[in-house]
Amino acid sequence: MTALTDMADLTIEDGIAIITIDNPPVNALSQGVRQGIKDGVEQCLADDAVQAVVLICAGRTFIAGADITEFGGPPKEPGLHATLDDMENASKPIIAAIHGTALGGGLETALCCHFRVCDAGARFGLPEVNLGLLPGAGGTQRLPRVVGAEKALQMMTSGAQIGADEALENGLVEDIVDGELRAGAIAFARKIIDENIPLTKIRDREEKLQSARDNPTLFNDFRSHIARKTRGFLAPEYNIQCIEAAVNLPFDEGMAVERKLFMELMSGPQSAAQQYFFFAERQAAKIPDVPADTPEIPINKVGVIGAGTMGGGISMNMANVGIPVEIIETQQEALDRGLGVIRMNYANTAAKGRISAEDVETRCNLINGSLDMYNLADCDLIIEAVFENMELKKEIFQKLDSIAKPGAILASNTSALDINEIASVTRRPESVIGLHFFSPANVMKLLEIVRGDVTGKDVIKSCMSFAKRIRKTAVLVGVCPGFVGNRILFPRQTQAQALILEGALPHEVDKVLFDFGLPMGAFQMSDLAGLDIGWNRETSNSETIRDVLCEAGRRGQKTGAGYYDYDEKRNPSPSSRVEQIILQFSEKAGIERREISEDEMLERCIYPMINEGAKILEEGIAIRASDIDVTWVYGYGWPVYRGGPMHYADSIGLDAIVATMRKYQEQTGDDFWEPAPLMVRLAEEGKGFKDL
Ligand SMILES: NC(=O)c1ccc[n+]([C@@H]2O[C@H](COP(=O)([O-])OP(=O)(O)OC[C@H]3O[C@@H](n4cnc5c(N)ncnc54)[C@H](O)[C@@H]3O)[C@@H](O)[C@H]2O)c1
Repeated sequence: MTALTDMADLTIEDGIAIITIDNPPVNALSQGVRQGIKDGVEQCLADDAVQAVVLICAGRTFIAGADITEFGGPPKEPGLHATLDDMENASKPIIAAIHGTALGGGLETALCCHFRVCDAGARFGLPEVNLGLLPGAGGTQRLPRVVGAEKALQMMTSGAQIGADEALENGLVEDIVDGELRAGAIAFARKIIDENIPLTKIRDREEKLQSARDNPTLFNDFRSHIARKTRGFLAPEYNIQCIEAAVNLPFDEGMAVERKLFMELMSGPQSAAQQYFFFAERQAAKIPDVPADTPEIPINKVGVIGAGTMGGGISMNMANVGIPVEIIETQQEALDRGLGVIRMNYANTAAKGRISAEDVETRCNLINGSLDMYNLADCDLIIEAVFENMELKKEIFQKLDSIAKPGAILASNTSALDINEIASVTRRPESVIGLHFFSPANVMKLLEIVRGDVTGKDVIKSCMSFAKRIRKTAVLVGVCPGFVGNRILFPRQTQAQALILEGALPHEVDKVLFDFGLPMGAFQMSDLAGLDIGWNRETSNSETIRDVLCEAGRRGQKTGAGYYDYDEKRNPSPSSRVEQIILQFSEKAGIERREISEDEMLERCIYPMINEGAKILEEGIAIRASDIDVTWVYGYGWPVYRGGPMHYADSIGLDAIVATMRKYQEQTGDDFWEPAPLMVRLAEEGKGFKDL
């Protein structure tokens, strides 16, 4: 065995050379890997004793992608293109032997080999689109030549992986090896030599492109098909344009298109935001004062109190990963309704083919309902999800304290209430924590974990791990009204209300937010949540627009009317009645309505969110600015191509935001617009939230 670099070595066995990459944990295409491949191939070509080359990886996977830590730095030789060209142009057959995941640059490397074999567990994908990019090492031109344009479109615009069987079916691999991969790949190489099978370069293959050439509407049909999901993102469209180039242009011209579009994405703001977010998400798992070796409380059974909207969704998360759940309700009817909704949700998922009928039964069987809180005595984690009412929550926690076993984690799903106050009624406040799920709780990826003043580190650590187990991304925050997510929402809603009084209409404000990339605007969101949250029929006195709408029975989507009118399919349309009510309110307040520009609407909705984020950081409620971004991307659908509110602020420049806020402060005389001291300081120092 010869070491090629510290990340690659070369062995020759009976005329077959084996280049082994060993760059843990995922064999990323770091400089040492590229150099190893390049030197290895060169040595094999120069060595008459070598007839064929197998490229294989040590550890748990084939090359799983580029070395993202090299992004943005000075280029390190040899470049990937030169390395891959040497492989593809080699006069001896090179066989990629794939296990684990061949992703991104890893798959592009395999596509420059002359043959590909894999083991049964191998997976393949070009996930660059998820970082706002496209495969920039020929993958956009080679993948369609191997699997066809249709399959390449699916894979490259979604970043989704395919398994070994699908890869074989689509021609991406020549063989799936039974047994040991290395031996199987060597046997395959020998067969190639013995049978004198000619080397083909993927770049020269055309046959799989024909069906796309015969189907002139393919690309536009596909564009419409993914339009909703990819709204606002540049990278999916650019991936499509590259595949179009592969179909319509000679290989080298297609490569030039790939290069040009790749550079455009790489230097653009969307990819910067998406790469930033990739790290932000990983960073969120790190809690400075809770070391990785903090002991964890085993969680084998979970209790949920309340089988309403949230309790049901929360329970599904556990059942989805095989954890038994005990749900408690006060009334049989509410329990039956709650369990019925869970079953219906699973049945709908099964009807879409995403789970089997058997899965529906297994999961429903994991969820047991009862009316007796004493059934929670053997639960390791209990999550309360009853009405948002402090007195009720306190009553429940007091009772839980006497029922739950010692060491059990007692959690509340409250959206905004004080976890410390809830914990104070128990004799074990160190076991109490907030686990704030987002609606629909079985779908939304965010789990906001709220630590109280005395919450135990083992409790925090256990909840962070548990989040991962139920496939959520957790962000740890401190106690304040609304925590991080909802607290940032409040000032935006305040401004949305002010805007409609001053001259805008709900659908105009919502359009600006929707066009910015949010899934819905402020008023659509209120209608969805229900305008009567926190509204009281007894005390309502037509003081606000919301009061008047609720009094008129317009309580949001569920009543078929709110800020909008809704048809049976819950499609919104602007309401003339609401417009009338708004105009009356403006008049009553003595406001002369005016035309408000879209820029003003956007600034007035978004900048207060950023300002609130700055206050949250100042108060130490969030650990880092990027945690706020993770919260807003996964909890509220902030477009990931804008990174999150704090990254977006940095991309605009904090000095510009401070100046704009001061302008509004001067115009309105309202201290609402006072910029947070932290933001002012950073702006003065020419820094951003990223520098904290
Ligand atoms: N709906 C959301 O979007 C959302 C999002 C995040 C957090 N939350 C929070 O989750 C909690 C629940 O909200 P929801 O929307 O699911 O409300 P919901 O009204 O749909 O459900 C509450 C359920 O709790 C039951 N309940 C009331 N008292 C009980 C008791 N003593 N024992 C057992 N069950 C009892 C009720 O019968 C009802 O089924 C609230 O604190 C809310 O603020 C809601």
